[in-house]
Amino acid sequence: MHFPGAHILSVNQFERADVEHLFDVADSMVPYAHRERMTKVLDGAILGNMFFEPSTRTRLSFGCAFNLLGGEVRETTDIKTSSISKGESLYDTARVISGYNDIIVMRHPQAGSVAEFARASRVPVINAGDGPNEHPSQALLDLYTIRKELSSHGQGIEGMHIAMVGDLKHGRTVHSLSQLIQLYPNITFTLISPTELRMPGEIVEELRNNGHTVIETEDMEQGLVGNDTVYLTRIQEERFSTKMEADVYRGRFRLNEAIYTRYCQPSTVIMHPLPRDSREDANELDNDLNQHPNLAIFRQTDNGVLVRMALFALTLDVWQQIERTSREVNWYTERRF
Ligand code: NCD
Repeated sequence: MHFPGAHILSVNQFERADVEHLFDVADSMVPYAHRERMTKVLDGAILGNMFFEPSTRTRLSFGCAFNLLGGEVRETTDIKTSSISKGESLYDTARVISGYNDIIVMRHPQAGSVAEFARASRVPVINAGDGPNEHPSQALLDLYTIRKELSSHGQGIEGMHIAMVGDLKHGRTVHSLSQLIQLYPNITFTLISPTELRMPGEIVEELRNNGHTVIETEDMEQGLVGNDTVYLTRIQEERFSTKMEADVYRGRFRLNEAIYTRYCQPSTVIMHPLPRDSREDANELDNDLNQHPNLAIFRQTDNGVLVRMALFALTLDVWQQIERTSREVNWYTERRF
């Protein structure tokens, strides 16, 4: 794929070589994200960060990534205060907003909306989640994390076993991640969900047609056995017509230290896109695993900054200029971990 000027809308745009190039660029962002060096390579550039659905880490990490490259961030975070609430079409909004920014990141509740917006935009658009459909930058940071975690155990992505747990019907993170991992051969997916919340049939069929093994089950304990990674998700309450409908599934699948120790292999990496639902009736990923060395959830969020910096550096075509424009930072930078 040709990155400069590209919209990033779906994981299906990527070949394996594109993903690996992006990961190399993400690796080169470490000194900047760790505040050892700074760059102004995007000095003067403006990001329009448009979030028409709740978000914490996606919005902040895209903003932070752009700032770390020296650019400025403008935010629109509420559909009610935007002209969309006056009946303005996505086409008109895109024509207008793309005149004010150099690149746009957008999250919207409707599947396909970000692609529709991108068709009318004059600048690159990155999909930060379009309803239940896709979340490509999350899948990229998840796969980047998987690669790093597995390589620290001397393993690669090829032939890996991954369990995905929870609301696989509405979860855009698992839709994107499963389709992205399949760029690597011979993956075994164990999809653990209530029957009503199974992964969409088209995705399962695509994975099988591409030679991967897919096991679908409601039995979490047996499903956890033999995986290199377990990826937990939240019941996507906002995609149900009533909260009560979502309540039926809340807390059905929980991972805690006792279950982990009993069913997972000792090296299994624990992941979650966050937010985890920590209310007592859900508690899908228990706090008793917080100190576990295989809990990668906060390494995922840190990696999100690197991967999003790489996406900006590639789509705005500055990735080769960064080192040349960089210098040491002046302030105290030591971080506590
Ligand atoms: C996810 C999302 O918004 O799809 N969060 C995220 O971006 N890290 C997952 C979720 O909300 O459950």
